[in-house]
Amino acid sequence: MDHFHFQNGELHAEDVPVARIAADVGTPVYIYSASTFRRHAQVFREGLNAVPRVHLAYAIKANPNLAVLRVLADEGYGADVVSVGEMRRALAAGMKAEDIVFSGVGKTRAELVAALEAGIGQFNLELEEEGAVLAELAHARGLVAPATLRVNPDVDAGTHAKISTGRKENKFGVPIDQALGMFDRLAGLPGIDLKGVACHIGSQLGDLAPLEAAYARIGELVAELRGAGHRITRVDLGGGLGVPYKPGDVMPAPAAYGEMVARVTRDWDVELMFEPGRVIAGNAGVLATQVVWVKPGVANPYVIVDAAMNDLARPALYDAYHEFVAVKPTGATMMANIAGPVCETGDTFAMNREIDVVQSGDLAVFRTAGAYGATMASTYNSRPLVPEVMVEGDHYAVVADRIAAETIIAAERVPEWLKK
Ligand code: LLP
Repeated sequence: MDHFHFQNGELHAEDVPVARIAADVGTPVYIYSASTFRRHAQVFREGLNAVPRVHLAYAIKANPNLAVLRVLADEGYGADVVSVGEMRRALAAGMKAEDIVFSGVGKTRAELVAALEAGIGQFNLELEEEGAVLAELAHARGLVAPATLRVNPDVDAGTHAKISTGRKENKFGVPIDQALGMFDRLAGLPGIDLKGVACHIGSQLGDLAPLEAAYARIGELVAELRGAGHRITRVDLGGGLGVPYKPGDVMPAPAAYGEMVARVTRDWDVELMFEPGRVIAGNAGVLATQVVWVKPGVANPYVIVDAAMNDLARPALYDAYHEFVAVKPTGATMMANIAGPVCETGDTFAMNREIDVVQSGDLAVFRTAGAYGATMASTYNSRPLVPEVMVEGDHYAVVADRIAAETIIAAERVPEWLKK
């Protein structure tokens, strides 16, 4: 459920007309609903009510805007970060260092040191050497790094290949059958406190079965590690829960996920960590855009909008579906293709889709753009960096400026020798 709805025939974000934001801020613009973020954060937490010890680390890669992080900090969430930049954001938003988990397959030594010095709560190790280096860096500073070993359980998450992470040929985690040996070698090192294991098998999962299969394997590993004398106090179950993008999509509810987790982990006796991203942020944002032209096409007209693949990359990257809704629909529909202005055929949001009738100058939104939207934006084609707005109730604020082409150009320079 989200708080984008029609009132008097006009799309509103909570109590604010989308058209008002578009008039004040311009388009394209991302619009977030704070109440939707809060609700999703609460629903996810409530889904895990039957699980005794839970730590929630919002995967801030999904939407790292500072205002969003502040809302989630208020809801008691920590952060799953994958770079020092994300760690700085989490801290700047008021999240506590001990509530931060650092994931990622390519943490540099400088990043490990920065996170150690900040005192974060958990490093998720992606390879044995990373653990040895982390232990050494921590020990040299008189610190002990809390860590888990991320294992690759070799399950097919049944999602798009580019966002699948838990098959053995993927770059993530260590092979589950080698985890015990690595644990034996790493756990004894000074400078590291290896508390348990972590896994994350992919994103936009529409089925709980692969998650359950992965968690069952993790359960066996925990028993094996304990059998070998290791003290296991934490297991990080990652993120990945899918959200509905298309009308009619049915996704596992957080309550069903929580029920499965409670059942599978009943005897584990550990603190369970979660890294939800999309399920918190996805439906909490839309990308508002204006129709520039309606251009005749071979079969259908092209609706050319002022948002493009640089603002919302998901359709071009993953063939993702984002619902397109007119801000003031007339009730009539038409068949159309929807495309942006960027000079690539891939800058197409939809082909042969039945949409609300729109004309040049009309406003529309792409829905379910709160996760992996603005954060993946670029300035390709020297387009400005898309701004972000947050709404709560009847008020709103710009929470990220539109970065103008002039500002971007000002950061570049022509070297002296070319200026002759
Ligand atoms: N934990 C780890 C270690 C991850 O790699 C990810 C996502 C998450 C948690 C959060 O997963 P979520 O709950 O959001 O599914 N840009 C792509 C999605 C990339 C996901 C990367 N990792 C997209 O737009 O679909």
